[in-house]
This record gives sequence, C-alpha cells and structure tokens, in this order.
Amino acid sequence: MKVDKKEWESKLNNLHTRTKGITSEHQIDYKSLLKKVFIGESVLDVGCGTCWLKNYLKKSTKYTGLDAFISGKEIITQSIEEIDFNTFQHRFDTLFVFAALDGMMDLEKAFENMKAICNKNIVILTGINIQPDLYHTHLITEQLVTNLMDGFKQTHKTQVHEKILFLEYTK
Ligand SMILES: C[S@@+](CC[C@H](N)C(=O)[O-])C[C@H]1O[C@@H](n2cnc3c(N)ncnc32)[C@H](O)[C@@H]1O
Repeated sequence: MKVDKKEWESKLNNLHTRTKGITSEHQIDYKSLLKKVFIGESVLDVGCGTCWLKNYLKKSTKYTGLDAFISGKEIITQSIEEIDFNTFQHRFDTLFVFAALDGMMDLEKAFENMKAICNKNIVILTGINIQPDLYHTHLITEQLVTNLMDGFKQTHKTQVHEKILFLEYTK
C-alpha cells in the first residue's frame, strides 16, 4: 500500500498547516494506555510530531523521535520508509507509532524498516476504518496491521474507541 510521494507530501503539508494543528489526538489518555504495555530502556517514537509522548515516559528512558517533517534536538528528520540505517548505532527496544500510520507514504516499507530497528516490541495507536481525506493517505484496519506485523505476536489490544485501536506486538 503506497501513495505517490507528491501526494503524501501534499497531505502532510495540509496536516502540519491546519488550524487545529496535529494535536487533536490528544484527547486520548496516553498515560493510561502506556501502563498497559512493555516499555524498554530505549525507544523510537515514529512520527513523533511535537514529542508529546515523551511527557509520559520515565526520565531514565532513552527517547528518540523520528519525523519526516519536523526537526528538533531529539528528533531525527527522516521518513521511516527512507531511513538511513547508518544514522542508528543501535536498535531500539520499543517503537511507538502513535496517530501516524494513516499518514504514511508506503506502509509495507514502513513496517519492514520498523521491524528491522526494533529489539523487543512495537506499540501502535491508530485510527481504523477511516477513509483517507485531505490529511491522511491510508485506510487502516486491524487485519492490515496484523498482516504487516508478520513475525511478531500481538501481546496487547485496547479498543479505545469504535475507530481507534491501541495495539502492542512483541518479537
Ligand atoms: C498526527 S501526527 C501525530 C504526532 C504524534 N505521534 C502524537 O501522537 O502527537 C503524525 C506525525 O507523523 C509524521 N509522519 C507521517 N508520515 C511519516 C513517515 N512516513 N515517517 C516519519 N514521520 C511521518 C507527520 O509528519 C506527523 O508529525
């Protein structure tokens, strides 16, 4: 499942310039959800945006954000599909992908790369069964995620809302 790079960039530009910003997802209680999954010593927050998630991690957790469109002190500005593996000196215990799957360019490549740099588990918060719009590129389903997470086992699932799933997959 892949969209043209120009279409992806255009939709993500819409997302980053919309008046309500990229923070509408924050009505979700990240803190409670994070208590339900394993969090390793080093984490990579894929599609980190403003690094909101970091607020809910222990101070001792080694946090790195990755975002194709945002730069910052703790952020690697690369797309997950086109990451330069030389940038990473190590794998990350835990990967988070919160509210980002439905805005990616190439889902197969994104999952292939996420699995390649993950030591232990991948934690996903995603909208499901939502038609792509001005800001989103893919319709995500649980079955699609399970297929793409081939080789990992689903170790947690919370239906946060009719159209929002919180999932953990472990190696
Ligand atoms: C809706 S925001 C969510 C931000 C953050 N995860 C949160 O929960 O607050 C989605 C973010 O994913 C980023 N993104 C989208 N596609 C990406 C990709 N292929 N690789 C890396 N980042 C991506 C966008 O630039 C955007 O900042």
